[in-house]
Amino acid sequence: MENIKLNIEKAFSFIAKDRVYGYENKANAANQKLQDGTGKGNDFLGWVTLPSSISEELIKDIQATANSLRQACEVIVVAGIGGSYLGAKAVIDALSGSFDWLQKERKNPVMVYAGNNISEDYLAELSEYLQDKQFGIINISKSGTTTETALAFRLLKTQLEKQIGKQEAQKRIVAITDASKGALRQLATQEGYKTFVIPDNVGGRFSVLTPVGLLPIAVAGIDIRELIKGAVDMEKLCGTETPFAENPAALYAAVRNELYVNGKKIEILVNYHPKLHFVSEWWKQLYGESEGKENKGIFPAAVDFTTDLHSMGQWIQEGERSIFETVISIKEANKKLEVPSDKENLDGLNFLAGKRIDYVNKMAELGTQIAHIDGGVPNLHIELPVLNAYYIGQLLYFFEKACGISGYILDVNPFDQPGVEAYKKNMFALLEKPGYEEETKAIKKRL
Ligand code: PA5
Repeated sequence: MENIKLNIEKAFSFIAKDRVYGYENKANAANQKLQDGTGKGNDFLGWVTLPSSISEELIKDIQATANSLRQACEVIVVAGIGGSYLGAKAVIDALSGSFDWLQKERKNPVMVYAGNNISEDYLAELSEYLQDKQFGIINISKSGTTTETALAFRLLKTQLEKQIGKQEAQKRIVAITDASKGALRQLATQEGYKTFVIPDNVGGRFSVLTPVGLLPIAVAGIDIRELIKGAVDMEKLCGTETPFAENPAALYAAVRNELYVNGKKIEILVNYHPKLHFVSEWWKQLYGESEGKENKGIFPAAVDFTTDLHSMGQWIQEGERSIFETVISIKEANKKLEVPSDKENLDGLNFLAGKRIDYVNKMAELGTQIAHIDGGVPNLHIELPVLNAYYIGQLLYFFEKACGISGYILDVNPFDQPGVEAYKKNMFALLEKPGYEEETKAIKKRL
């Protein structure tokens, strides 16, 4: 089986190759620390060997639960925020048909998401949509106390119980949370929901290969065994046994750190397929939350091409030269569609007649790469042979491992997120949450 391929050659007109390869010791040491658990944040390293240690029993349990939700429900609401939904949405969007959700005769339930915002319009419109639907809920929160998710779940649970009764609702709700701590664990125990555990040593943004990602992905009809298989193969390739020059995670970590110290402070993740939009959203969280601390860290941004070439293309080509791009490229499209010939040729497109749409997309990709390099944008390239569960599994693990190595090279703890608490504290103070009396007084003085 082929692997996804990382190509960093196009960065070397901007940074010296020997400087990147000079990271060998640092990157290998970082990888070793991840393996041995001797670096910062080492109580959150469960993801490192997660793919190869997922038990058959857990996979069967996830699959059986997914099957029973699939049988009972036409719509599944995945309630979660950040690491508790982005991985699932990334994989589901990447591997589902673009218009599946509009089909009347459906193989798979419609997957919708909640608990990732506090928009009253969104929640009210979701409630209206669900009114005449047979729906189920997968409620995901490691802490079990996240406001956005808890709020959405309270609304959804109330609605489901009204629509089908408490007893039936209990069969259509699954909670994924900590083994013993948090309000969601307590609630799930009391209500008798089916539950899955998020391992203590796996943080939210690294949890896509736990039930957090695997259950919704299985419910959406995607082969989770293939996804895991891809991740297992990448776990091996990115391990400490692999020499630096052959280890894609170590190389990617090295090249982005060298670009960073050379003033490339923003990384843009680029795709040429709308289905990959949420892979970028997942990646943004992974790198943003892991590296953006202590006043350091590359700012992770993302664009969908060619769409955004018509909005952000100008800035990328000629704006401040502080960016580099990492392109996720799919070698072979899954579908075949050729440009038809037209007798009149009024649109002047007959020069493309008989060519595949994917060929046109690839030429746009190549043309953009050359233009951006000419314009001062270093280009990194990740190629997936084809868009399927196996290669998405490889990609997810590759990015996770590279993120851990890169964070250690940057000398931060890639596995905490202390900065996320600041807004929560203020929000609770403003909402006058019990226990926040002092903060409420202090914040009111500032209004
Ligand atoms: O990566 C993280 O830890 C965060 O993005 C969390 O996943 C997110 O804040 C949701 O937290 P929880 O699962 O506790 O509701």
